[in-house]
Amino acid sequence: MPGGNSRTTLFTAPYPAYVASARGASITDVDGQTRLDFVNNYTSLIHGHAHPRIVETVARQLVSGTAMSFPTESEVRLAELLVDRVESVERLRFTNSGTEAVMMAIQAARAFTGRRQIARFEGLYHGSYEFGDFEIPFNDAEAAERLVREHASELAAVIVDPLPHRPGFLDPVKDFLARLREVTGAHHVLLISDEIISFRIDYHGAQHRFGYSADLTTLAKIIGGGFPVGAFGGRADVMAVFDPSDQGPRVSHGGTFNANPVTMVAGYEAMTMMTPEAYDRLAQLGDRARAGLADVLEVRGSNWQVSGQGSLFKIHTHPRPLVNYGSTQPQPSERAAAEEFYLALLGEGIILTPDLAGCVSTPMSDTEVDQLIEAADRVLSL
Ligand SMILES: Cc1ncc(COP(=O)(O)O)c(C=O)c1O
Repeated sequence: MPGGNSRTTLFTAPYPAYVASARGASITDVDGQTRLDFVNNYTSLIHGHAHPRIVETVARQLVSGTAMSFPTESEVRLAELLVDRVESVERLRFTNSGTEAVMMAIQAARAFTGRRQIARFEGLYHGSYEFGDFEIPFNDAEAAERLVREHASELAAVIVDPLPHRPGFLDPVKDFLARLREVTGAHHVLLISDEIISFRIDYHGAQHRFGYSADLTTLAKIIGGGFPVGAFGGRADVMAVFDPSDQGPRVSHGGTFNANPVTMVAGYEAMTMMTPEAYDRLAQLGDRARAGLADVLEVRGSNWQVSGQGSLFKIHTHPRPLVNYGSTQPQPSERAAAEEFYLALLGEGIILTPDLAGCVSTPMSDTEVDQLIEAADRVLSL
């Protein structure tokens, strides 16, 4: 395996730790070291590792079959739950990853509009599949309006992650998303809301939180309860391009393990536990983490800063305003400082991503969050 594993993201120099097991908020590596996990498989495990209710549900499903080449009720149940929660999603289909969900949303937009090109925002991550004919700086409504007006006749869709994680959970500025919605709608260009991570911040999805309604939405991560998953959905007239009961689909969508019942029951169990109260509790823990880390940075005289919303947070090793990809890109020395901090936190028993992003999970309480804050304080005081 090039790099010794199967995910580029997981390589860290000199080599990543290999893990033996994980439970609740902790991961134990093959050397027997146990650490608090604020990565949660890149935000996908909202209930941490091996949650007893999910384990039990999945165990029951395992003995009833794992993939049958027929649809199952479990697929309908999870689809109904998601359609009920996200107002703009009238129809939905499942995939095995977020990358595939984005690919299928793009195919839907192309088939529905009869146009080919896709615009995206600079530096935002939408999965392993490379696409995008135009790039617009995030938070720049004028640039978005100009691009959509000039290229409306070729543009199938604009895709946006409303709380983009790669540049560090940037807050969308006032009216940016509303203006994007307005201009795409006026020119019949579809707006795809990629909420594969940001679905974490609101019971009704990120577009509800930020006050807009997308034509298509992509989901993944938390909706699979810890198993491989993706979903794409939206307007019934757009999603009809996949309906073979009509005049045959204009877009064929396969996938041997799509909506397999193991993922579906795990996802349903995970999402039913995510009540509005559970979202509020995670947001409070997230606030505690962000405020505590910001205090530590201030007390230690650091010019670093913290961003994020809900259960998501990120430490930036520079003081520049967090507006778009350009403004958040670390200089080489700032990148090196982040790596050093990441390794020092590992030494303190805390796991963040190498670029210092993290999230809280439901098995955590103030105790775990305070352990993170105290560890950050110890490292910065050295
Ligand atoms: C916004 C966004 N879109 C798409 C993806 C791709 O999802 P997956 O890793 O499940 O293929 C990710 C993964 O991190 C993501 O954050």
